[in-house]
Amino acid sequence: MVDIHCHILDGVDDGSYCLSESVEMARIAVESGTKTIVATPHANIPDSDGNLWGRRLEDKLSALNRAFEDNKIPLTVLPGQEVFCSGDVVSLLKNGELITLNKSRYFLIEFDFYSRSELIADQCDALLAYGVVPVVAHPERYEALKENGQTAYRLKKKGCLLQLNCGSLFGAFGRSAANAAHGLLSESLADFIASDAHSPYMRTPYMADAHEMVSEMYSLDYAELLFRVNPGLLVRDREIKPAY
Ligand SMILES: [Fe+2]
Repeated sequence: MVDIHCHILDGVDDGSYCLSESVEMARIAVESGTKTIVATPHANIPDSDGNLWGRRLEDKLSALNRAFEDNKIPLTVLPGQEVFCSGDVVSLLKNGELITLNKSRYFLIEFDFYSRSELIADQCDALLAYGVVPVVAHPERYEALKENGQTAYRLKKKGCLLQLNCGSLFGAFGRSAANAAHGLLSESLADFIASDAHSPYMRTPYMADAHEMVSEMYSLDYAELLFRVNPGLLVRDREIKPAY
């Protein structure tokens, strides 16, 4: 599997605290069948230093891949960010201060959980106009999508893609997020499922149980599409297959 949303980079956000935690997260990921992870530290969070892309994060990423080699862990970590959307996101992207997932056309974004659907749509429009494809992180956790089933359709129609969290399927973020996640799955609106892991203890990178749940409740083909096929296409900057 390919995990496109994971806070495995150590000491840069509220994810992995140190290199040994990252190595432990990698072991869990490999045990669950993951071979590739896109490291997606939070970026551009309001009232923070921004955690923008640059040498510091690149060096961290290289050190992490070296640690996996040294520990004989068969896992590759690729560059990425989970970017909080604000009005200046496009200019930060232009300046190279933000990056897309593995520097592809696909850009992982998050919003305030209480953002209005119009704001989400407008910011996605700006990104699409710039030429990147917004991948909306955990849409099932946003009030605007929980309250109005049309919001997800509208985003998909524009060309946005939707990434669900493994934990949401099991109710880790509450019943309403679980219902929203299964609603998106039932209507074939989801494009990816990722761990959004933050540690080796809670919100871990273990994805095999979520893959199994999707296989049993929906179909094996659908699980493969969401955990393996589409994430694999994304990291190679290929066109994503719609779910039917
Ligand atoms: Fe995240």
